[in-house]
Amino acid sequence: MKIQKPKLKQQLKAQRLIVKLFFILKLSLQFLRFKFYLDLMIKQEQFNKLNEKMLLCSQCILRETCRTVVPGEGLIEAEIMFIGEGPGQKEDELGRPFVGTAGKFLDEMLASINLKREDVYIANVVKCRPPGNRDPLPEEIEACWPWLREQIKIINPKLIVLLGKHALEKFLPGQKISQIHGKALRRYIPEIGTYVFYALYHPAAALYNGSMREVLISDFKKIPAVLKAAEKPIKIENVNTNIKLKENKQGILFNFNE
Ligand code: URA
Repeated sequence: MKIQKPKLKQQLKAQRLIVKLFFILKLSLQFLRFKFYLDLMIKQEQFNKLNEKMLLCSQCILRETCRTVVPGEGLIEAEIMFIGEGPGQKEDELGRPFVGTAGKFLDEMLASINLKREDVYIANVVKCRPPGNRDPLPEEIEACWPWLREQIKIINPKLIVLLGKHALEKFLPGQKISQIHGKALRRYIPEIGTYVFYALYHPAAALYNGSMREVLISDFKKIPAVLKAAEKPIKIENVNTNIKLKENKQGILFNFNE
């Protein structure tokens, strides 16, 4: 069959348009990939600089007795950031967070949800070991806050998991770990923005306490569901009715079990 000239012209035009669109799409994808790697490089550079400065910090008395500053470790594009209390003896020796017995327990719980420590970011509210593993003082936590604040801003995680009462008090002041563990809360914090927080018992506290250990393991297993819920746009109401927020403005609980 003979194709008419105007039809042939139309077909050629359509073909050219498809080639052009394909070319634009390819360029856009290349640009997005380039931007992704560029952003990552910038993030890494910011992070390296932050760590260098952190290692030289002497803003509080803890630096006088600790061996080394323990900035934190993990993936800088992590979706989940864990925040503990402060380095213990082993962490102080090795300069890495959660590498003692509590750390082994944390690794086991991460494995139970198919994650490794390299898939998340792990930090503490204080970066230097309090002498004799005492609790960090409020002024020490405050002195260390700029480091943690900058870590959060660079990593920008979708979910912040608070390990124990000191991390909880920093982000959700006035809450009790025994009441809020296993519940997720979206909260705006002026210096860092809006984040979803999920509080858990501290692994060191739960390690040798049978019932607390069970609760922690069970709460930990909900992390993937909490992360999924955290990714959704704000959908929120007080579904966990057994929790009363101290101030209305403190944050919004949301149901991650649906
Ligand atoms: N406990 C913490 O809170 N952080 C660590 O890094 C180790 C133990």
